[in-house]
Amino acid sequence: MISVKKIQHKACSESILNKICSIKALNWKYSVEKQLKWIEENLHESDIHLLLELDSSPIAYANLVAVTAMINNREQLVYGIGNVCTSVKGMGYGNLIMQEINSAVKDLKQPGILFCRSELINYYKKFGWKLIAPPKISPKLPNTLTFNLFEKIESFSYTGKNF
Ligand SMILES: CC(C)(COP(=O)(O)OP(=O)(O)OC[C@H]1O[C@@H](n2cnc3c(N)ncnc32)[C@H](O)[C@@H]1OP(=O)(O)O)[C@@H](O)C(=O)NCCC(=O)NCCS
Repeated sequence: MISVKKIQHKACSESILNKICSIKALNWKYSVEKQLKWIEENLHESDIHLLLELDSSPIAYANLVAVTAMINNREQLVYGIGNVCTSVKGMGYGNLIMQEINSAVKDLKQPGILFCRSELINYYKKFGWKLIAPPKISPKLPNTLTFNLFEKIESFSYTGKNF
């Protein structure tokens, strides 16, 4: 059975953190120690882990990190979506995690932002994320997409921490 865990970082147990590191390790080549250090350094207590499990095994993960971006020259609280990954590609888990991400962003009542490689732009667009036109972005950032942001973007800037 598939279950969804939506956990604030301050409430995340060691065993959940280990599951998170194990699914991240399938996608990025960092040791568990380095991943735990990254999480401790970059996530605040109220940031959110989204973990999908199939019969207690992790199948998809993402985190939502509260950060501030400049949108149309105004400071805006946004949730940075990072570390989106699945245990196996092509099984529909990418659909499930995006549904959970979108629902979590809407519940938070703030925009979501994410950065991605070019080959993933269409994946995120499929779930309603919108690409910001590169000339509107400064300083130079990777492809930047937003969700749950309804105003027209004339300028976007982000110089905060990784997420
Ligand atoms: C990106 C990732 C999360 C997608 O998950 P997935 O399990 O492969 O996705 P799914 O199999 O559930 O596919 C979901 C849908 O997205 C589509 N899709 C998947 N990858 C896509 C891509 N690169 N471009 C466009 N569409 C894509 C699928 O065709 C599918 O559509 P369908 O349901 O209409 O058939 C997964 O490949 C992954 O973990 N990649 C490695 C980590 C990574 O690079 N993460 C991104 C960080 S920005």
